[in-house]
Amino acid sequence: MTAFICYNSNMRLDRILANSGYGTRSQIKKMIRSGVVSVGDTVVVDPGTDITEDHFSNITISGGKLDFSSHIYLCLNKPDRCLTARKDPRLPTVEQFIPQALRGKGLSSVGRLDYHTTGVLLLTNDGEMSHRLTSPKWHLTKSYTVTYSGLPLGPEEVSRFSEGFILKDKPGDRLILAPAQLTLIDDTHCTLTLSEGKTHQVKRMIASVGRSVTDLHRHEFAGIRLAAGQKPGEIRELTRDEVVYLKSSCKMTEEIPR
Ligand code: URA
Repeated sequence: MTAFICYNSNMRLDRILANSGYGTRSQIKKMIRSGVVSVGDTVVVDPGTDITEDHFSNITISGGKLDFSSHIYLCLNKPDRCLTARKDPRLPTVEQFIPQALRGKGLSSVGRLDYHTTGVLLLTNDGEMSHRLTSPKWHLTKSYTVTYSGLPLGPEEVSRFSEGFILKDKPGDRLILAPAQLTLIDDTHCTLTLSEGKTHQVKRMIASVGRSVTDLHRHEFAGIRLAAGQKPGEIRELTRDEVVYLKSSCKMTEEIPR
């Protein structure tokens, strides 16, 4: 497997740590401000401090050298009956599909799929990318193939979803949903493309129009699809082109706002 190194000559300290998989932007900022990060003998508490490339190897966290292992980007065809979690005392998790050699490298899933949902699940140790891919800011699409029970969906639901609507399925809860694209396949199947990822969103949207999801498969996440013949439980590394595409989709060239 190849991996991708993406360091430029000068970079903000928080960006370097985010790119190295040390957590989300807010976790990293907090960590730096707490005074555990040093560059050479100097404790650096400003997350925005510009570090020149020749000092990258002098960065330490709580006295330990920054691990410059490059980023890993994987796409799993998540099987049914599997939790999107690292560990669980009772149920199988996606961790079992990560090759042994890549375990312990800080990989986590980009967002979540439900226990029974199958299909595209990205995993990475690039905290910054993960944060951006799950942020509603970039309107990245997620497409699902839905099998449902109940009366066939029709043009009324297509137009309701395309306009966006307010979901009130829990007492006291008002969830504003962005426009989504519903495409009818036959009397029990449709595809639904979302530009956001609220909890159990597909099931809740389908339930809001009186139908019930019986099977859910994600066939695309932010333009990434399964490889031809990629079976449930199989994991592959993203190609360099896919990584470049993802980075440009979530504007990873932009500065981290202070
Ligand atoms: N929406 C759902 O309801 N479940 C998923 O797993 C993903 C999207």
